[in-house]
Amino acid sequence: MPTGYDLLIRGGTVVLPWGMEQTDVAVRDGRIAALGPAAGAGAATVIDATHLHVLPGLIDPHVHLREPGDPAVETIATGTRAAVLGGLTAVFDMPNTAPAITDAASLAWKQDHVGRVAWCDMGLYVGAARGNIAALPGLETAAGVCAVKVFAGSSTGDLLIEDDPTLERVMRAGRRRISYHSEDEYRLRERRPLFRTGDPYASHMAWRDEETAFLGTRRLMALARATGRPAHVLHVSTAEELAYLKDFRDLATVEVLVNHLTQMAPDCYDRLGGFAVMNPPIRGERHLQAAWAAIADGTVDTVGSDHAPHPRARKELPWPDCAAGLTGVQTLVPVMLDHVNAGRLSLSRLVDLLSAGPARVYGAVGKGRLAAGYDADLTLVDLRARRRIEEDWIVSPCGWTPFAGMAVTGWPVATILRGQVVMREDEVLGSPQGRLVRFR
Ligand code: DOR
Ligand code: ZN
Repeated sequence: MPTGYDLLIRGGTVVLPWGMEQTDVAVRDGRIAALGPAAGAGAATVIDATHLHVLPGLIDPHVHLREPGDPAVETIATGTRAAVLGGLTAVFDMPNTAPAITDAASLAWKQDHVGRVAWCDMGLYVGAARGNIAALPGLETAAGVCAVKVFAGSSTGDLLIEDDPTLERVMRAGRRRISYHSEDEYRLRERRPLFRTGDPYASHMAWRDEETAFLGTRRLMALARATGRPAHVLHVSTAEELAYLKDFRDLATVEVLVNHLTQMAPDCYDRLGGFAVMNPPIRGERHLQAAWAAIADGTVDTVGSDHAPHPRARKELPWPDCAAGLTGVQTLVPVMLDHVNAGRLSLSRLVDLLSAGPARVYGAVGKGRLAAGYDADLTLVDLRARRRIEEDWIVSPCGWTPFAGMAVTGWPVATILRGQVVMREDEVLGSPQGRLVRFR
């Protein structure tokens, strides 16, 4: 039995699955070797965490890192650098790139590329398309694949499966949980002529209204019930869906986004214009309150950023030509910690939503829990740090955040990936060590 540890995190308030304890976390060979007072054994590196909270590595299960695509906006290298600066040890990356990740060849390129350039671990979504349904069972079990993603309503890119017969064929191909963008495409098309180019940016939530999202979710749940296929409903944005989904918890898990918990119409459209436009849209106070109630009562399984960078010039176009999507991978943890400080959720619930939840929903192996033998992925946070989110801190090449100027209390001060300190005090350290996450 070797006695020396590679790393010892000493004296922090550690968020364990069974509660918080002031204790030590010992790491050897990239995994958690021991919890509890550092029983005599030395360590090569010791971090004093006396005034910090030690969390299992936080995960953003919903990012669009745009590679292959437009490196002037984002790449896997820059997006994962942003992730570790923001206190994340893993991100799950969406397939609506250019070209999209829908076959073995595009997936193989990405699997290989992650191992060369990523600063954090990654899960990869595979896109469902009309032409790849027969291949989905093989693709969804490939290395590093967290889930199949279905766009049942159109958004950025050309991935789309809008009709029930084809959605049902997708659900009957394979068996793992499918992640859905749920907006009814037919209603979107029908309502578009009600609006004109140059209408106010707040028209976005009138066009893509509550019923567009709710109808999409009712259709998907009917098909999920008929086929028995587990579903993860991404970025649920309405009070109606959150109430409805409570009757589908045997089949469905639920994501809400930090933007839908933090930004509110009409104020966000007045302040941010096109930089508040995303799909599904940011809505009014009733929906924001419903999202918080669903955090409180356990309806929500995961919180993501839906980090979706676009060039500034495309966000500045008149509605609806402005690109839809907001950045957020670097700001997810600071904004959620600020919500903890404001009393909107507990730190334990934050860990449930940003670490244990993604690991459970997607079946990630060795993640989501501080326990002996699990990966030594750790996020150290200073709950008392007062900071202001500024655009000069953002490392995504697109360079903007909808949270610019926001004062927050609580900040990630170190990110540890499988025992390696990859971020400390706003500095990225070492070299890219990210790997593909393993999934059940
Ligand atoms: O606002 C969005 N932007 N919603 C999506 O579904 C896609 C994303 C993007 O990729 O830009
Ligand atoms: Zn998305």
